[in-house]
Amino acid sequence: GPMHSSLRHDSAHKHVTGAAEYIDDIPEPAGLLHGALGLSDRAHAELISVDLSEVAAQPGVICVLTAKDVPSVNDISSGGWHDEPLMAETKVEFHGQVIFAVIAETRDIARRAARKAKIEYRDLPHWSDIDGALAANAPCVIEPMVLHRGAPETEMDKAPRRLQGTFRVGGQEHFYLESHIALAIPGEDDEVSIWCSTQHPSEVQHIVGHVMGIPSNAITVNVRRMGGGFGGKETQGNQFAALATIAAKKLNRAVKFRPDRDEDMTATGKRHDFRVDYDLGFDDEGRIHAVEATFAARCGFSADLSGPVTDRALFHADSSYFYPHVRFASKPLKTHTVSNTAFRGFGGPQGLIAGERFIEDIAYAVGKDPLEIRKLNFYGQPGSGRTLTPYHQEVADNIIARVVAELEESTDYQARRKAIIAYNKTSPVLRKGIALTPVKFGISFTMTAFNQAGALVHVYNDGSIHLNHGGTEMGQGLYTKVAQVVADAFKVDIDRVKITATTTGKVPNTSATAASSGTDLNGMAAWDACRQIKARLVTFVAETWKVAETEVEFLPNRIRIGAEEVPFNEVIRKAYFARIQLSAAGFYKTPKIHWDRKAGRGHPFYYFAYGASCSEVTIDTLTGEYLVDRTDILHDVGRSLNPDIDKGQIEGAFVQGMGWLTTEELWWDGKGRLRTHAPSTYKIPLASDRPKVFNVRLAEWSENAEPTIGRSKAVGEPPFMLGISVFEALSMAVASVADYRICPRLDAPATPERVLMAVERLKAL
Ligand code: MTE
Ligand code: MOS
Repeated sequence: GPMHSSLRHDSAHKHVTGAAEYIDDIPEPAGLLHGALGLSDRAHAELISVDLSEVAAQPGVICVLTAKDVPSVNDISSGGWHDEPLMAETKVEFHGQVIFAVIAETRDIARRAARKAKIEYRDLPHWSDIDGALAANAPCVIEPMVLHRGAPETEMDKAPRRLQGTFRVGGQEHFYLESHIALAIPGEDDEVSIWCSTQHPSEVQHIVGHVMGIPSNAITVNVRRMGGGFGGKETQGNQFAALATIAAKKLNRAVKFRPDRDEDMTATGKRHDFRVDYDLGFDDEGRIHAVEATFAARCGFSADLSGPVTDRALFHADSSYFYPHVRFASKPLKTHTVSNTAFRGFGGPQGLIAGERFIEDIAYAVGKDPLEIRKLNFYGQPGSGRTLTPYHQEVADNIIARVVAELEESTDYQARRKAIIAYNKTSPVLRKGIALTPVKFGISFTMTAFNQAGALVHVYNDGSIHLNHGGTEMGQGLYTKVAQVVADAFKVDIDRVKITATTTGKVPNTSATAASSGTDLNGMAAWDACRQIKARLVTFVAETWKVAETEVEFLPNRIRIGAEEVPFNEVIRKAYFARIQLSAAGFYKTPKIHWDRKAGRGHPFYYFAYGASCSEVTIDTLTGEYLVDRTDILHDVGRSLNPDIDKGQIEGAFVQGMGWLTTEELWWDGKGRLRTHAPSTYKIPLASDRPKVFNVRLAEWSENAEPTIGRSKAVGEPPFMLGISVFEALSMAVASVADYRICPRLDAPATPERVLMAVERLKAL
């Protein structure tokens, strides 16, 4: 059936031809006005005076909004912490914070006018980065989390060997192609309709209601698709939607906010960078006895999603390894920078790569190939006594050893590593490296309540099907997959299923499309809606045709009723005339999961997704430049709902992960200004940066042990961490200059500069 087949992404052809409608493509309502942001140019300061008279006086400017114009509560904090004003009132806490907004006849007028503000500040002490925050004894934006199991305090001392280190891993700009955008159209009374590029329409609805002082039932939020979200549109769209709505209701005209790229990069949050301080106890074999680590993160000025992001870092610092004794603590530090937010993997990648650094450090200490140390420390099978995570959940579905073994075999890893070591002996300038790294990623929102979803399915009396659900489409193929589920449920062709824009008016109280769980949740909710309609149809058909219900069977585009086969359309028309309800709301909540953050115990993940990648690189030891010669990936998506879409997710995520760890570097200057706020200074991977040989395979034998939709597994985020093999291969190439005696302890991103500096450092030893 349509499930498990490589149907094309419903918008693939529209993306290519330009027919896919993004919010800025929607025909503009008459009288539309445009907004622009007025941003702080101080990192931390009191606002002494804000003179906007010249801004307001510009021809074409309709009004200027400040905190005073907020009808109800000047707060857009997603967690309800009240730590994030929509517009700054008395102080600014980062360079780029919104102080006011200009509404004008054109976008250009609004943007130019915004620069005419005269703002007087009194500077306050600021710190922009983790070290600065630690030195200033900065507060945390949320209560830190601790994971603890066994007795690391005593077992660490008993371990035959011991080492300590510090690892730094950088942040990342989302660089979605479509920037943030919100269009608000006022309705009568308190009503407003909003089109917004958001992964979380229900939260936009909630925040707009909070800011406006109107109930959710007056607000409808719509989104057909995003031009990429990557986590950057989980909470960060709130401010644009709120500003557009305030202006739209105040002026009774449609208002659109579309920041340009520089503003988007300056004023919206990014991936958190981390500093990980670790202490490892192990033996001469390289087997880990105890691990202790603190994970300090740059959170920015407010909490936003920093709690769950730093938590997820801790949840993934075990990577694929069993730690007999462990203690992890998070430090979600407040900094005077934009509030960092969700980004593919949601802190997991930062934790996971720290786990890989532990392995690497131990491998060099005991003089072995890191892959050998990886295998030695993998979680075991149930009953092995080596299955308990630092958060006390059992790893019950472990397939990592098999995934890694198959990739090791298919890539000829051992022979290639030998050949590379031989090559490096003879090559004075160019050096090669190879690494094979695993991924294990926990699926579910750690906030148990978010693991619910709804769907709405109508079968019209012409036999066409209307599908709506709470998930949003950001390019990942969710809409296609859920349509496949519905087509499969009714056994009809996919073309019969109309995919419709996500809207809070059809499915309420949705979660963000995030944590890779879009298909798991919404696919199941849609399946549930179909199940209800099918049950009514079966009862109706059995009664009408006078056959047993077991004699009714859905076949492709028709229904077998006893010995007869009736076209789907005909059954539907008959059912309509018999007054059978042909519409249903479906619902799903993930079973089994629970989590107690205070205790650091529970079962936060429904299951794990696994994968492994093997990369080979060449570095130039005179310039630090490098190429990725080859990457092979074997990734587990359970029984794939759509193998081509899943491969697309794996390739895209890998390249994005590789970019994070290689060329993408965020840089703030001493004044707390982000200086990498455009593609001229911020380098995402180009087509030419992709691995020269790139083989991606699905672990076709895998099936989800849990009864997920079609026994599939989530795919959105896990393959992001496959990029770590590139980083580790670079590290090996660097290590060659000191004959692999020393762990290079590369920090991420391993930009060419950083690779060069590491080479120089090792040569000097
Ligand atoms: N793929 C594309 N093309 N664009 C995106 O913005 N976001 C990623 C991933 N894949 C993203 C993407 C992130 S961060 C997540 S959490 C998942 O998709 C969300 O969608 P899903 O739950 O339906 O997989
Ligand atoms: Mo993805 S970071 O969970 O939006």
